[in-house]
Amino acid sequence: MIHIRMHRRTMAAGIAVLALALTGCGGSSGGNTKADAGKATGSSDKVIKVGFAQVGAESGWRAANTKSIQTSITAANGFNLKFSDAQQKQENQISAIRSYIAQGVDYIAFSPVVVSGWDQVLGEAKAAKIPVILTDRAVDVKDKSLYVTFIGSDFVEEGKRVGEWVSTNLGTKPINVVELEGTTGSAPAIDRKKGFTDAIASNPNVKVIASQTGNFTRAEGKTVMEGFLQAHKDIDLVFAHNDDMGLGAIEAIEAAGKVPGKDIKVVSIDGVKDGMTALADGKINYIVECNQLLGPDLADIIKTLHGGGTVQPRIVTKDGAFDQAQAKEALPSRLY
Ligand code: AHR
Repeated sequence: MIHIRMHRRTMAAGIAVLALALTGCGGSSGGNTKADAGKATGSSDKVIKVGFAQVGAESGWRAANTKSIQTSITAANGFNLKFSDAQQKQENQISAIRSYIAQGVDYIAFSPVVVSGWDQVLGEAKAAKIPVILTDRAVDVKDKSLYVTFIGSDFVEEGKRVGEWVSTNLGTKPINVVELEGTTGSAPAIDRKKGFTDAIASNPNVKVIASQTGNFTRAEGKTVMEGFLQAHKDIDLVFAHNDDMGLGAIEAIEAAGKVPGKDIKVVSIDGVKDGMTALADGKINYIVECNQLLGPDLADIIKTLHGGGTVQPRIVTKDGAFDQAQAKEALPSRLY
């Protein structure tokens, strides 16, 4: 609760200060947008049309993120939100973005399924003078002016914090790690793996013996963990790139007659309700949070841009981290 209030205050202040400091300086909104045209004709206080292309509904994190967007980009707040669920398919997101361009929305926001393959469609949005805002996940494009800003967590840092915790707390003796990776080609899967790998590199006791994608879902996390358990009799720890895959792994560990959190330790990233509950119950050992509540900041960013201000090209959200005792304490007051 405290964390979220602090985070909101920091973000809102950052966005507002930038709006004041940079208005009229030709900043990152690019200028000459559909929204600018609206302002020129005196229509800037009309309803702001926003198209949001969501990744899917693959995890508890995503459900909380969607709720945050839908309860922030509201009619009461001056917006008309068009929302689509890509079911974790890039081609669906590209179709949704093209449809928003055709509908003439004022802003497009989206959380990309994977990092590559966006140059063409974002070029089309730019040609239509529609500012694009990345939420949660990054894209890899040559022309950085294809989007105005990217707001979301530092995924490399998240993986690094998990790796450092493992190395310090469990790596005093040899341990075998299996890794449940997120969606192949997605920013969180790439970056969390890198952060974790870098953090354990200097500790020869911590060895990753198997690594496979579980696509960020509980069901695939369980299936992949079943395979790991059959192939390896000596697993000490599971590093899951998100809570849902960690929860699936717990089901597989229990079905194999072992005790999660004790016989096989579990560490993950997200901090959703189910993950935090499993942590408090002793089935998970450590969670690094990934803030899900991006909706209010997205609304602030769009309002700032619509008012003629500019925002930083990268806005990093703040994430906490919890061991079992901290999870017990934090659970009652958490919003998600
Ligand atoms: O991009 C954020 C990641 O995507 C979350 O960790 C995961 O739960 C979601 O599917």
